[in-house]
Amino acid sequence: MNDLKIAPSILSSDFAHLAEECQAVLDAGADWLHVDVMDGNYVPNITIGLPVVRSLRSALPTTFLDVHLMIANPDVMAARFVEAGADLVSFHPEASDHPHRTVQEIREAGGRAGLAINPGTSLDWIDYLAQDLDLVLIMGVNPGFGGQSFIPSTLRKLRQLHQKLQLLGARVDVQVDGGVKPVNADEIYAAGANVLVAGSAIFGQSDYGAAIDAIRTAATTVEV
Ligand code: DX5
Ligand code: ZN
Repeated sequence: MNDLKIAPSILSSDFAHLAEECQAVLDAGADWLHVDVMDGNYVPNITIGLPVVRSLRSALPTTFLDVHLMIANPDVMAARFVEAGADLVSFHPEASDHPHRTVQEIREAGGRAGLAINPGTSLDWIDYLAQDLDLVLIMGVNPGFGGQSFIPSTLRKLRQLHQKLQLLGARVDVQVDGGVKPVNADEIYAAGANVLVAGSAIFGQSDYGAAIDAIRTAATTVEV
């Protein structure tokens, strides 16, 4: 799968001007918007929730909203994010009692389902879920904050994931989230990721178009 998508994480945007920030990255060439939901329990940070997803959906009716739940007990909330307007909802399996059921509920609500794998989390979670997933999110940092450094072992994990997906015959998008920059987008893409999330590397720059282009160019000039 080499359909490259760039998904700016709005976590690093100016929340006081969220609609303008979203429109600016979309105008600058963003493919998806990555929406980080944190509950102060599963991760030591609190961000946004259902009302903001609802507002984004109504302000941006055709934009692909990629919602990343970093919350305890996602089972009770995941489908509600689809109802609020998310196109895709990812959650962390360790936080869930019944990941398979939660995947089903996301899809029954009309959304795409993603499984988010932390740096210390095994890929084994995917074995019995891959056929029902639309996306696997591989964290390049520990979840909770933007602006952290990419953990190098993520690349080995991406290559292992690629092999596993081939073995299972599963066709899913592979997303990398955390620490993605123009300097590492080439090796991340070459290792098998096709959806690149970037927060600080885009919103931390004054020219969002140049920032997105730099990541896209780095990724697409590599031989896969
Ligand atoms: C981290 C979030 C990421 C974060 C990425 O917990 O899931 O989406 O915003 O930020 P950068 O690209 O700055 O590492
Ligand atoms: Zn995220």
